[in-house]
Amino acid sequence: SERTLVLVKPDGVKRGLVGEVVSRIERKGLTLAALELRTVERSVAEEHYAEHKERPFFGDLLEFITSGPVVAIAVEGERAIAAFRQLAGGTDPVEKATPGTLRGDFATEVQYNLVHGSDSAESAERELKLWFPNN
Ligand code: GTP
Ligand code: MG
Repeated sequence: SERTLVLVKPDGVKRGLVGEVVSRIERKGLTLAALELRTVERSVAEEHYAEHKERPFFGDLLEFITSGPVVAIAVEGERAIAAFRQLAGGTDPVEKATPGTLRGDFATEVQYNLVHGSDSAESAERELKLWFPNN
């Protein structure tokens, strides 16, 4: 079994979709290893999204992710990393995410795409250390 980092982004928290995200994680057969509501500091956000620092949307992304509380979840289970990416759907909620996925069902704009999920074992390890340093 493996662990992945899931974030319900500020749009998801503001819209009252935390329960929906948690419910889909649990119904998939994954389990919650840690869960916290938190407003992220800019330095943590910069580290979290470091791979995107040269992208034109980096400033907007940091602004958004620090704009209100997020729910950070350590999710555990067999193939948890890929399984949550499947639940999330593609990055663009209209062009890539299909109906039945979180982004496909609940989002329309790429920046406000509801959730984050680690994209590889290396990312998961790095992100879990960053968000849950005591676990
Ligand atoms: P995360 O799970 O959040 O990392 O999403 P992802 O892995 O599906 O996408 P990626 O890592 O490529 O991009 C990270 C985040 O940056 C996305 O989830 C979007 O919120 C945002 N993003 C990506 N592309 C764009 C873009 O073209 N414009 C804007 N404004 N935001 C973008
Ligand atoms: Mg990503």
